[in-house]
Amino acid sequence: MAVRAILKMGAASLLHPSVEVQDFAKENIAELIQDMKDTLQHEGGIGLAAPQIGVNKRIVILGGRDDAIPLTILINPKITPLSQEIELAFEACLSLPDLMGAVPRYKRIQFSALDAAGKSITHEVEDYHARVVQHECDHLDGVLYPMRLEDLTYFGYRDVLMARYSR
Ligand code: NI
Repeated sequence: MAVRAILKMGAASLLHPSVEVQDFAKENIAELIQDMKDTLQHEGGIGLAAPQIGVNKRIVILGGRDDAIPLTILINPKITPLSQEIELAFEACLSLPDLMGAVPRYKRIQFSALDAAGKSITHEVEDYHARVVQHECDHLDGVLYPMRLEDLTYFGYRDVLMARYSR
């Protein structure tokens, strides 16, 4: 078990496209996933992608913090939008501490991936769950959420924005 340091925006690894996992055993994927779980739990986040700990492999983990999203491990994930409907909502990221921004995302998606055991899984999700999957998978293509912002007036410090929008 190991909590790993999370790279912050500006780090090169966060901008590189990650490569697909080919061989679970040779690439020590089980150990990497355990480190990602430990790190996510330690940080109290809702999702983490391998490049955020400096490993440019296509692995994300999400959920497990509350009942909203079960703990899910996605290896070599693929996303297909199920409609063209877009929703705008605030997001945060462990690589941009204290900040948040309103990001447009597909409302309904299907994702498929390999799980931690190498088994194929496919799920259809919507709303917040779909948003988290899209955010985490973006990390695998070197995309951070500020790159998707269409209106920078909805980007800022969480405490300031929360105070403004909770009125
Ligand atoms: Ni993130």
